[in-house]
Amino acid sequence: IKIGLFFGGNSTEHEVSIVSALQAMEFFDKSKYEIIPIYISKDNKFYVSEFTGIVNEYKNIPQLISKSNQVLLAKNKSRVDLVKYPYKMFSKNIYDSIDVAFPVVHGTNVEDGTLQGLLNMLGIPFVGCDVMSSAVGMDKYVMKCVLKDNNIPVLDSITVNKFNYISDQDDVIVTIKKKFDYPIIIKPINLGSSIGIKIAKDDESLKEALSHAFTFSYKIIVEKAVTKLKEVNCSVLGDIENASASECEQPINSDEILSYKDKYLSSSSSKKTPSSNTMAKGTMESLSRKLPADIDDITRETIRNMAVDTFKTLGCNGVARIDFIIDEEDNKIYVNEINTIPGSLSFYLWKAVGMDYETLLEKMIQLAFK
Ligand code: DAL
Ligand code: MG
Repeated sequence: IKIGLFFGGNSTEHEVSIVSALQAMEFFDKSKYEIIPIYISKDNKFYVSEFTGIVNEYKNIPQLISKSNQVLLAKNKSRVDLVKYPYKMFSKNIYDSIDVAFPVVHGTNVEDGTLQGLLNMLGIPFVGCDVMSSAVGMDKYVMKCVLKDNNIPVLDSITVNKFNYISDQDDVIVTIKKKFDYPIIIKPINLGSSIGIKIAKDDESLKEALSHAFTFSYKIIVEKAVTKLKEVNCSVLGDIENASASECEQPINSDEILSYKDKYLSSSSSKKTPSSNTMAKGTMESLSRKLPADIDDITRETIRNMAVDTFKTLGCNGVARIDFIIDEEDNKIYVNEINTIPGSLSFYLWKAVGMDYETLLEKMIQLAFK
């Protein structure tokens, strides 16, 4: 079976995706699967070559691109061909074909249903969530609405769009302050990896946090910041009929909120934004965490059940990771977000319950054909 492994794309989590994908690549059962690594550049072009599956090549992406083939996805009967591009009409040069797509992309413009929609239209079976669950999972506001409607607890929030903020900044600030006391947390509506998130403690830092978040997305979500909290993550594998939960982890944060640095650069001492030098080290897997999470058995089972409920409610498929917040003031548990394509595909959470990475990938592929 030929698997098209898709990664990269026009996303702020581009580098994280390269890490996740190339790491996964090592674990497929090579006797069953041939992996075709399809790199999506930041300008959304698709590249394939003998180099696109090698992590070190991503230290110099322009060079990698120059020695790779740009390809188009095109439908040819029931198979999907990667057609060399630029191609001449009537002389399409078939580079290779894929039987199933395996998206290992993170973030807006790829993980949010965009890539899934493209694959759908081409009739390519693909691993993971469909268009709707991917899109709902990416939008923090829409996700909360759906979960709330299904009695899954989420933190209260308000959503502000950039247009309203620009036209009446003071009104927005008043509305936020009417609903929440400081500290308040401000997040771009559709980003992963904690990008653009800030906590505000007063009016000045609120304005700053809003402006900051609006540089990343046109809609932002505002919540009361839980000050005494425990973050617990749990992965779910399956589909809407059958799904099971993994072990729970507790990510360790050095700042107030788990930052991009905590998530991906924790093994590196440098503070710079992700680049190819930090990339090889900065995987989700190397993030400092307590595994299993430091929670009692009842809390663990509650979280695992809530994770499965969330997964099924959103109509997910494959593997997802649901991130929870426990408010330690009153021990309430809230779903904070879902990652429909989690970093490192959450393999370490499955390893903790005795499933190796190869088996996890195998199950994900089977679910795509079910
Ligand atoms: N969005 C990233 C990859 C994660 O939280 O898993
Ligand atoms: Mg995320």
